[in-house]
Amino acid sequence: MAADDGPVAGMSGLDVGSAGPSGKGAAAAVNGVNGKDSAVAVAPDTKVSDKDGEAPEATDFANYFCTYAYLYHQKDMLEDRKRTLAYYQACVNNRACFKGKTVLDVGTGSGILAIFAAKAGARKVYAVEATDMASKAKKLVEANGLMDVVEVIQGTIETVQLPEKVDLIISEWMGYFLLRESMLDSVLVARDRFLKPEGAMYPSHAAIYLAPIWTHNKQNNRLRDYQGAVAGWEEFAEDVQRDYGVDVTCLTDDYGKEQRDYFLGTAQWTDVHPEQLMGRPHRFKSYDLKVLTLEELRAPLKERLSLRFDLDRTVEALCGWFDVDFRGSKENPAYLAVNLPTGPDATGATHWGQQTFYLGKKTIQARQGDTFEGTIEVVRRTDNQRLLAVQVDGEVVEGPRGRGGSTGQKFQWQWSIE
Ligand SMILES: C[S@@+](CC[C@H](N)C(=O)[O-])C[C@H]1O[C@@H](n2cnc3c(N)ncnc32)[C@H](O)[C@@H]1O
Repeated sequence: MAADDGPVAGMSGLDVGSAGPSGKGAAAAVNGVNGKDSAVAVAPDTKVSDKDGEAPEATDFANYFCTYAYLYHQKDMLEDRKRTLAYYQACVNNRACFKGKTVLDVGTGSGILAIFAAKAGARKVYAVEATDMASKAKKLVEANGLMDVVEVIQGTIETVQLPEKVDLIISEWMGYFLLRESMLDSVLVARDRFLKPEGAMYPSHAAIYLAPIWTHNKQNNRLRDYQGAVAGWEEFAEDVQRDYGVDVTCLTDDYGKEQRDYFLGTAQWTDVHPEQLMGRPHRFKSYDLKVLTLEELRAPLKERLSLRFDLDRTVEALCGWFDVDFRGSKENPAYLAVNLPTGPDATGATHWGQQTFYLGKKTIQARQGDTFEGTIEVVRRTDNQRLLAVQVDGEVVEGPRGRGGSTGQKFQWQWSIE
């Protein structure tokens, strides 16, 4: 899940400093989740593992986990009908894949996916959640009469123990541009620790797309906002000089850079209409979650990028999004595969929206049939590995794959995904 200045403004999963429950609170709540009425085959009063109930590492808790402990945040996700319905259909339309099986829900949050799995006929569902939301999930499971099937366990998936391997792992781990939040790391850890070799991942596949767009003048607004911020500093500097006799102009360049990074160097949550697309989206990366390794996932991603233009028009931005598929495994294939797309959609965006990367002053003068040929790099930010840095390099060439030669338009853009 992801959130920032989109439809759930101010509720980012990365809101540093939100008043979340303390690590102590998180640990204390475990007894309410895995206490005497635990359905796991261990002695009453015994935790499923020694580390079960441990709070996540403090900085990560403050930066990432804390907002997930709030129902308003879980509700935002549940209300995303395209998202929640896709998971529901992936479960209940594939009952034969779930019937009598053991399931692990990684990051159960409110418990919703564990409940879907139980409704689809699972024999046992382990629902693991790091935050105090685990106690709410347990409440929901009980209220829906599923406590004989669903076992809620509070703790990080990296530290909890399960009494058996599972047939299926379900999880909603996707962030903006798929990879923000880096929760897929935890899902792969879960797979390597707990999934039977023939087991299935739900979702099983994921892909990331990029397309050129025009922006209803938003690109210019963004430039104007940046220029306005810089002009505002000049005025501010004069005021400080006049009122307090302090010269702050030595900070002018620093302020300009800060504002440039924000207005021009940060991708934005957008709900792009398909008519804004200026060419076919390029699926530049695909993942098979059954075989993807943690090392591959953590390594910088560098892929060839080829964007063909279908219009004579200025390209003002690139637009990125992802989709996931629920196809089951080779041994236990979904007979009704479900796709969850998050690209430009005339009926409106999912809560992930799309990430729009504005090109600033370096716009592309596109002619129909020309192609942008280059590379895209996506890396984790060094100051926070749950955030991303994106770089696109390349040139515009005439005709498909540059058969007509270079147009002389060469570019390098960089953005961060906050
Ligand atoms: C995007 S939410 C999804 C919640 C719920 N499954 C749903 O689909 O509505 C991800 C949840 O995973 C939890 N989570 C993230 N990383 C985790 C980890 N390593 N171990 C346990 N829970 C984790 C978060 O606290 C959050 O509640």
